[in-house]
Amino acid sequence: LNFLEQALKSEKFKFIKGDLLDSPCLEKALEGASRVYHLAANADVRHGTEHPAKDHEQNTLATLKLLEAMRKNGITQIAFASTGSVYGEAAVIPTSEDCPFPIQTSLYGASKISAEGFISAYCEGFNFQAWIFRFVSILGERYSHGHVYDFYSQLLKDPTRLKVLGDGSQRKSYLYVGDCVSAIEVAIEKSTEKINIFNLGSQGYCEVKDSIGWITRYLNVNPEIEYAGGSRGWVGDNPFIYLETSKIQSLGWSPTLSIQQGVERTVQYLENNKWIL
Ligand SMILES: NC(=O)c1ccc[n+]([C@@H]2O[C@H](COP(=O)([O-])OP(=O)(O)OC[C@H]3O[C@@H](n4cnc5c(N)ncnc54)[C@H](O)[C@@H]3O)[C@@H](O)[C@H]2O)c1
Repeated sequence: LNFLEQALKSEKFKFIKGDLLDSPCLEKALEGASRVYHLAANADVRHGTEHPAKDHEQNTLATLKLLEAMRKNGITQIAFASTGSVYGEAAVIPTSEDCPFPIQTSLYGASKISAEGFISAYCEGFNFQAWIFRFVSILGERYSHGHVYDFYSQLLKDPTRLKVLGDGSQRKSYLYVGDCVSAIEVAIEKSTEKINIFNLGSQGYCEVKDSIGWITRYLNVNPEIEYAGGSRGWVGDNPFIYLETSKIQSLGWSPTLSIQQGVERTVQYLENNKWIL
């Protein structure tokens, strides 16, 4: 937040609030920019099937409109927040950037791989340069959705009970937000291909049950845990996500926090920022 406040005060930055689907506003917002960091999205994988058009509009179409606005402004560099969800239920784990072409299991993943496709096509067609980052789930400050949020808000209301989607044995990799940002910086500084695709994640994974243990110990509560059952939390939930990250590590980057530390940092953040709930 401090960085943002400072940035907004400095003449180097301008703050414009607008909709990516509003092309005139977007074109104006991009005037004078040299590179776009494209993070905006509908990032809600779980409820995708409740509104089938949303992922397409907010992720694929918004990205296409952004690329067009960039082209009109002569901006050719884009860093894009994609997702490990594009791998669906990968056949190879840990999953590398060049794994066999994946079959999609969520509307979110499908919309992000489509957006990646348009970005690559603009690199070929209009000489753009792109850094595409496929993140695992991100933890840490300003966290506003995901399992830690769900568990923390439940335990705040009733520390004696916790409802868990699936059977708790889902294996997931997570990454601390500060490490995610530093990986993006390293990749952009050191990777100079036309299209640069990187998995961003931790070297390992945990089970949902591990995370429950860390969260309840941190909060000093001992709830009765009720599992919904099944190996997936929802349609499109990948029961095992673990990305191969040797490509970004070969550039000298490695995460500073473990998954456990990232989960604990997130709970600490939510405790200090209950307004976010
Ligand atoms: N958080 C994660 O665990 C995670 C994991 C993988 C990938 N990602 C990707 O990283 C990016 C950031 O994720 P996040 O968790 O901060 O998501 P978020 O939902 O907190 O933030 C996304 C932002 O995009 C904005 N947005 C959506 N549609 C828009 C539009 N048409 N015009 C302008 N703004 C719009 C939303 O208002 C929101 O503020 C997203 O692209 C997401 O898909 C996140």
